[in-house]
Amino acid sequence: MMMKATAKAHSNIALVKYWGKRDEHLNLPAVGSISVTLKEIYTVTSVEFKKDLKKDVLILNNSTAPDYQRKRVSRFLDLIRKEAGTNAPARVVSENNFPTGAGLASSASAFASLALAGTTAAGIQKSETQLSGLARLGSGSAARSIFGGFVEMNLGTRDDGSDSVAHQIAPENYWDIRVLIAITSTAEKKTGSTEGMQHSAETSPYYQQWLSTSVKDLTDMHQAIKLRDFKSLGEISEYSCLKMHALAMSARPGLIYWNSITLDCMQAITDLRRSGIPVYFTIDAGPQVKAICLPENVDKIQKVLANIRGVKKIIKTALGPGTALVGETLL
Ligand code: PMV
Repeated sequence: MMMKATAKAHSNIALVKYWGKRDEHLNLPAVGSISVTLKEIYTVTSVEFKKDLKKDVLILNNSTAPDYQRKRVSRFLDLIRKEAGTNAPARVVSENNFPTGAGLASSASAFASLALAGTTAAGIQKSETQLSGLARLGSGSAARSIFGGFVEMNLGTRDDGSDSVAHQIAPENYWDIRVLIAITSTAEKKTGSTEGMQHSAETSPYYQQWLSTSVKDLTDMHQAIKLRDFKSLGEISEYSCLKMHALAMSARPGLIYWNSITLDCMQAITDLRRSGIPVYFTIDAGPQVKAICLPENVDKIQKVLANIRGVKKIIKTALGPGTALVGETLL
């Protein structure tokens, strides 16, 4: 049964980072990771399979997407088509609620929403765990966006990747943590995460240490979440972030994802902490800085970050829910 299906998925930010793959083809991570799903940043995607189309159509934020993006989506849809036994092309309409070119990665919310909308449109029902495994094939971090709140991505041990899926550690209302995202640049990043990971694994002398030390970070983060110990959660987050960037920087040639404003934000967050405000930073493969804090300190931290020269915008968010259907129409 074919239908048009629409799904909404929220973005997430890793507190314990994923960097490196143990299988490129199945997109299996080389380390586990722990993230929080973000309420205010999301993608809404609708999928409709239509036999009369010549090829897949991808409309991204109201315009026809460039070919390389359409091809990535087509390869992902092929997995769904294979399972559904159809070769019908699809019309995919995807919209981010954050400005295009804000320099915010959207692959997590994009592929999580595409996994749910695509399978539903093709008449396939999947559990959240199965959807997480499917979303992972689009983007590693997308596997985590299927779930809300605090989420862990398992490293998994099986060769076929069937246990490399995410699960929820605690729902979004378990602990009110806030994230402020300081946008420091709207330029597209030069080295994507897949390429950066591969390059780090091949050339950094620290790669083995990155793999072996990540296990303790995950255990410690579990404990911090269990005890609602904010200081530990923040310290482990900064530690994992800096280790990931040190790994990228120690590749040859080195990968530096930061700009000078990124460093100013990191410094300001460290200074705020010295002045007694519990706030910690984390940064993905790009120059935006995420400040992790508690609700009572949001306004103070926002003021400080907004005053940094070069900070273009600050997005404030609480923790958000997992991926859900927001519309289904029988065709
Ligand atoms: O999901 P990908 O393939 O874009 O990789 C994400 C990598 C980081 O964002 C840097 C870390 C993470 O765990 O999300």
